[in-house]
Amino acid sequence: MCGIVGYTGKNPALPFLLEGLRTLEYRGYDSAGVELEAPSGSLTEVKCKGRVAALAALCEKLDATQTTGIAHTRWATHGEPSDANAHPHRDCSGRVAVVHNGIIENFQELVAELEERGHHFASETDSEVIAHLIEEALAGPAEGDFALAVSLATSRLEGSWAIACLSAASPGEILCCRKGSPLVLASTPDGAYAASDVTALAHTTSHVVNLGEGQIARLLPTGEVSVFEGDLTPVAEPDTFDIDWDASAATLGGYPDFMAKEIAEQPEAIERLLEGRLGQDGIVLDELRLSPEEVAAIDRIYVVACGTSWHVGLIAKTYFETWARIPTTVECASEFNYEEILTTDHTLCVIITQSGETADTLASARKMQAAGAKVIAITNVLGSSAARESDGVLYVQAGPEIAVASTKAYTAQLVAAALLALFLARANGAISLSEVRSRFREMQRAPELIRIVLSRAWQDEVAAQAFASAHSALFLGRGVSSTTAREGALKLKEISYLHAEAYPAGEMKHGPIALVEPGYPVVVVVPESHVRDKTISNLQEVNARGATTIALATNGDVRVAQLASHLLLVPPAPEWLSPVVDVVHLQLLARYVALARGCDVDKPRNLAKSVTVE
Ligand code: AGP
Repeated sequence: MCGIVGYTGKNPALPFLLEGLRTLEYRGYDSAGVELEAPSGSLTEVKCKGRVAALAALCEKLDATQTTGIAHTRWATHGEPSDANAHPHRDCSGRVAVVHNGIIENFQELVAELEERGHHFASETDSEVIAHLIEEALAGPAEGDFALAVSLATSRLEGSWAIACLSAASPGEILCCRKGSPLVLASTPDGAYAASDVTALAHTTSHVVNLGEGQIARLLPTGEVSVFEGDLTPVAEPDTFDIDWDASAATLGGYPDFMAKEIAEQPEAIERLLEGRLGQDGIVLDELRLSPEEVAAIDRIYVVACGTSWHVGLIAKTYFETWARIPTTVECASEFNYEEILTTDHTLCVIITQSGETADTLASARKMQAAGAKVIAITNVLGSSAARESDGVLYVQAGPEIAVASTKAYTAQLVAAALLALFLARANGAISLSEVRSRFREMQRAPELIRIVLSRAWQDEVAAQAFASAHSALFLGRGVSSTTAREGALKLKEISYLHAEAYPAGEMKHGPIALVEPGYPVVVVVPESHVRDKTISNLQEVNARGATTIALATNGDVRVAQLASHLLLVPPAPEWLSPVVDVVHLQLLARYVALARGCDVDKPRNLAKSVTVE
């Protein structure tokens, strides 16, 4: 939800700012802007509706030698995507400029108050109030002290924010602050950097400062980064971490799009995750930071997540209940935050979040911690809010996921959830060591099975033709495959804009079957499983109504082959592991359908990679 970058140092700022925005564009891409500051303090702004490429084209006209600047790529929350609503936003005097990621919940009261005192607003955004509040503080109580002005201004805000701002009165200085939205900083010999996440900084440094909740940072052209609490008390030891992947991980590397690259990277991601995880006594998850007694006592699990990560949770429930015998409830974070919770003295909350920054999921974790539960985060992003705020963290190590539609993080999260379930099961004695070993050996086969599916991408390309004139599609499955069907439908919706509905196959006859007419595409996920025969009956039911059926089935399943219009074949896999393997076909299918419809598979409309607003 919006990406922000800032630089002040020896070099011209514009190249880094534009490159940083390109890297962060997955966070939002409806408008973009940049503010450059000359040594005299004079500010130059370029902003427009549209993508970073449109901004870069406008910037070509600039003779941009300024070595200080901030920039923004937007996902609109308040005010439509337009030139005027694009960031940066300035104060009345045009001497303060602000970029913001988050939501200022009390902006309407603040706007009314500021207008009464004579301020004029140029946009419909919530963010612009920040510039005007800083303007007032600079002219009043802060008496020109930029850091104090930012501290006073942010003390008036409610909501969430990561902010970078410039003041013409303090040339070369960038002030940053955050609450609820992420912001990382870097101090280098070339200058100081700020960004919404580490992907934008990977070219510049491997050592990053994670700005803490409520903190303020001052960036100077010497590269100095000073961190303060919100009241400007200096922070002696800011939170720092090392970036553990190289910048090339966030480039296309010869693939046509990031989605293609990330689908292809799934085998290696899982191999990385499994490395060193089987020890003498079972699964090794040293990073969980929970005592053996705490782990063994867990008697109830809440899994909370959003979107694709919520789908991981639905499958994780099966693992937690089957192996660890722990009753598990799975909730969408956005709903969970407004529901009653029933914790015991030994409740564990597992949050699953690729980005580690999803606002609803973080709010759920805080709610569970307040209720006395321990929280474990399964996340892909090192140093993310989820990782820092949880009692334990399990990194899925999938590498940066740039395409908005999650693929490799999904399968890696599934495997991470399985590891966690085996770990809990061993800790509470629910399963034997030999069973843990057997399940782990099965898990180790996942990369090889996925490679086989990847080699059959042509089946998805052919099957995609079934969607050529479709307006809608149905995805069916039973047991764990009903969740695979859900994830397949979500992928299709997200990137092809084709309506898709997933349903437990047996429930279909209670309503959705009315949708089926001749030629209507129905994807049936029917791998070898204890419910295969039942699902085949459902496949026959839609066939009988003229559907064009795309069946995901196990190699050699002659019965399904005879019934389906198109086949997506998977190698035989244990039923519990099948979601990790089968979903790869549905990712490929969604991508081919989207490409045939001329869609941008990496940056689907209206979406953002990391949803940092509730
Ligand atoms: C995935 O394809 C989606 N873009 C989306 O549903 C995503 O999974 C959701 O927003 C949760 O994100 P998180 O895993 O970063 O918390």
